[in-house]
Amino acid sequence: MNATKVTEDIFKLTVNAEDILFEGIWEIPNGVAMNSYIIKGDKTAIVDGVCGWNGVPEKLFALMDSLNIDPGSIEYVIINHVEPDHSGWLESLIRIFPDFKVVCSREAANLLASFYRHTDNIITIHDGFELDLGKGHVLKFYEIPNVHWPDTMVTFDTLTGTLFSCDAFGSYGKITSAGYDDQLSEEEISFFEKEAVRYYSNIVAVFSSSVLKAIEKCSALPVKIIAPGHGIVWRKDPAKIIDDYKRYAAYQKGPAKEEITVIWGSMYGMTEKAVMHVEKVLEQENIKYNIHRVPETSWGTILASVWDSTGIILAMPTYEYKMFPPMAAVLEELCKKRVSGRCAFRLGSYGWSGGAQKELDEIMDRNRAKWEFIEPVEFKGSPSDQDLELITERVHQLVRTVRERVSNR
Ligand code: FEO
Repeated sequence: MNATKVTEDIFKLTVNAEDILFEGIWEIPNGVAMNSYIIKGDKTAIVDGVCGWNGVPEKLFALMDSLNIDPGSIEYVIINHVEPDHSGWLESLIRIFPDFKVVCSREAANLLASFYRHTDNIITIHDGFELDLGKGHVLKFYEIPNVHWPDTMVTFDTLTGTLFSCDAFGSYGKITSAGYDDQLSEEEISFFEKEAVRYYSNIVAVFSSSVLKAIEKCSALPVKIIAPGHGIVWRKDPAKIIDDYKRYAAYQKGPAKEEITVIWGSMYGMTEKAVMHVEKVLEQENIKYNIHRVPETSWGTILASVWDSTGIILAMPTYEYKMFPPMAAVLEELCKKRVSGRCAFRLGSYGWSGGAQKELDEIMDRNRAKWEFIEPVEFKGSPSDQDLELITERVHQLVRTVRERVSNR
């Protein structure tokens, strides 16, 4: 938890959330930073809040205290997005200091009524709406619906060129000391880039077309600083995170990077033998690959890995005439995130009857997933030498296809 100066009259209050499942689903092994911003013109505004995750924002009030900011002096509470990770503190603020005005989109006003029964002193914005805080800080607001909920907007400080982007351009990863790109080493930037892919694939992925529209809208603004609701602030190179987000959005339809993700599950080690063989072939091919076992690996980790990968290898046995159930659950989630345009290969063991392949075909057809599968390899019981030879050929074929897709992009 820390309070730092972003630029003239603008301060960032950061609280890290750890040991939780984000949105009650997503594992965040490296935590997530929750950012709130104070803008001090003649009038004081706060952009988004920091939920103490149980709805009690003592940490936010403590950070204000460290900056000598009296929460009672806040005239405007700007709600870029109502999801309670940003707005959960409102209930406490209303109880203690009720004399503030909320600035938000029309959709957000509806959500505030349903989430907190809060309907008083609300200013609803339209694109380009202006709010003058004094000392030159004229704020402008722009709606970016569905990044991440339909209510989302961004706030732009015209004086400093700071774009308060809420979920857009955010990442996972807790912030320890430096929360700014100009204070981080290349290695640390690379850490946040990985965390951004994980965050994007878990939280924002399904709204990728809205992300591209939002980027187009924001590109008309003279942005100098990007200050998101999660992750680091981009002061030195805001274009980097914008370009990264364009790339992440494009990965939804593929191709993504020249990488392969292997997702596998095994009951008694028969499919696992084939997976070990697949790994050897991938190593010979000298292609980057990520490998995840189900159900041991969380959906969030698998999603992040698949998001970056053009090639997917699915290895699972038949289970009760269907697919190994944890694999089916992961595939359904990938389809919900509308991951498409992947090159894929499936292999796996069966005992007395197949069934996994049939369910895989059903899932892909029902979701119109548009994955390009090469011929699968199924084997009875343990894979024979001939099965392994066939798997070798198919993995080489997949790698060739991945490389072609990426180079022809
Ligand atoms: Fe960070 Fe969609 O809330």
